[in-house]
Amino acid sequence: MSQADVFQDRMLSLGLARVSEAAALASAKLIGRGDEKAADQAAVNAMREQLNLLDIRGVVVIGEGERDEAPMLYIGEEVGSGNGPEVDIALDPLEGTTLTAKDMPNALTVIAMAPRGSMLHAPDVYMDKLAVGPGFKPGVVTLAMSPGERVSALAAAKGCSTTDITVCVLERPRHEEMIAEVRSTGAAIRLITDGDVAGVMHCAEPDKTGIDMYMGSGGAPEGVLAAAAMKCMGGQIFGRLLFRNDDERGRARKAGIKNLDRVYTRDDMVTKDVIFAATGVTDGSLLSGIRREVGYLTAETILMRSKTGSVRRMTYRNPVK
Ligand code: FBP
Repeated sequence: MSQADVFQDRMLSLGLARVSEAAALASAKLIGRGDEKAADQAAVNAMREQLNLLDIRGVVVIGEGERDEAPMLYIGEEVGSGNGPEVDIALDPLEGTTLTAKDMPNALTVIAMAPRGSMLHAPDVYMDKLAVGPGFKPGVVTLAMSPGERVSALAAAKGCSTTDITVCVLERPRHEEMIAEVRSTGAAIRLITDGDVAGVMHCAEPDKTGIDMYMGSGGAPEGVLAAAAMKCMGGQIFGRLLFRNDDERGRARKAGIKNLDRVYTRDDMVTKDVIFAATGVTDGSLLSGIRREVGYLTAETILMRSKTGSVRRMTYRNPVK
């Protein structure tokens, strides 16, 4: 990479933080207002507007949905000024629409950028996910292990008892058996009602969040975003697409996926260096949510680059016009 390219990469990373901030600030007035759609739309509009100011030739690979169902930030939409590097963009303008509408913890705006062709084009289906933080040998836990075996393997690797392990899981009826098996090992479960990108990211900072492992099924697009975050934070994530019917299998094939049973590692989902930014919308253990004071809104953003392993936390106090 030339000096000029390094400089451009750094500048673009700051630009990405602004994109994520703009989406969070736009959704701020809808926090706790009970209107998920309006909150999402505000974030989408702001994210798209800011993204189109960046000097990139971007294509949305993880976005708001297929072109016929999402008029903005749809999969395949070209974004950016049309000058600059060719990149893939993965985004979720509001990860946790219900969390935002109900003012519950851990709603985020999320965006990741990597060289063209380096991010998995995950269709909008479910993905079975498993994640742990940095510092463990590759494959310390696997999707092939039962939930109880994963807890035992992680406890052995940490040199602690299974009762010292906390696992984060989405609270869904489909996870009841898994939750019971994990609890039978003595481990604790942190249930979340939504927002598994944040759920996975929590594993990367266990001292701060108290979470050692994430498991269970959630959106496949969110799985790719979580892989981008873990590539920057150093943790492991595994994912396998789950299909409920032929329509979903067809969508995966249309997205270019040939082996529908493949287990993806973090680096299969994001094959090259990635820049990742997320801004807190509601308060969480990783990021503060939008703070209001008379005349100002303040947003906290985490900005990370896998190439350098850098993690920046930025607070932006913005006058309200
Ligand atoms: P939204 O922000 O689109 O509402 O998604 C939130 C979310 O909880 C994701 O974090 C997660 O991957 C997915 O929904 C889980 O899907 P489901 O609610 O169908 O279990």
